[in-house]
Amino acid sequence: MGFEQTKEYFDERDAYYKLHPEICFHVQDFMTVNLDHLKSSIDELAADFAAKDLTLKGKGFLDLGCGDGRVLAVASSYGMNPVGVEHCPILAEESRINIRNLSKFGTIGTVVEGDLRNTRLYDIQDFMIVYNFLTLSIDVAKIIHSEGLPGTLMLLEHFAGEPLVLPHLKYVKRIGKNGRVSMTDLYVNA
Ligand SMILES: C[S@@+](CC[C@H](N)C(=O)[O-])C[C@H]1O[C@@H](n2cnc3c(N)ncnc32)[C@H](O)[C@@H]1O
Repeated sequence: MGFEQTKEYFDERDAYYKLHPEICFHVQDFMTVNLDHLKSSIDELAADFAAKDLTLKGKGFLDLGCGDGRVLAVASSYGMNPVGVEHCPILAEESRINIRNLSKFGTIGTVVEGDLRNTRLYDIQDFMIVYNFLTLSIDVAKIIHSEGLPGTLMLLEHFAGEPLVLPHLKYVKRIGKNGRVSMTDLYVNA
């Protein structure tokens, strides 16, 4: 399943949500709308890995607060093993539906319903990359620092012009092309 097909699918899904207020209410403007921006960040990460003779393929990718699963689907299109945690039951179900709809193209992903701060729901050590779109980001950084492996990466999408200070992780760089609205910074559990 290529990135372009994933993007096309979620463009159609956004149109579907608009006709379904019960889902739209939850989705609103909170999802990563600009998947090209997400792609540019993951492309840069893939290039950084390749420079060290590493690959993103097969790596664990965790989206803490995964919404409707679109970030998981993009991560899958890069051959990563995505898991999402989402506390809203409607969105957790929506994530599952979207992964299932895309599975015929090879998309994989697992969705866990619950609070991302409950680390009994997932093993942070299974994940080399943790994605977070401005949801309890300091708690996420704390979990990575206290329970994750050294070298675990965190991609933080946010709206602030300047990089946000995450007290427990080392700032690496702004990654990907700047989104029109949001931007992404890369941190590491040093
Ligand atoms: C900004 S949205 C991002 C969704 C998705 N990661 C994306 O980028 O498209 C944040 C998501 O986190 C979820 N969320 C908020 N607090 C949470 C918590 N304590 N545990 C799990 N999910 C949470 C929200 O329901 C929402 O779907």
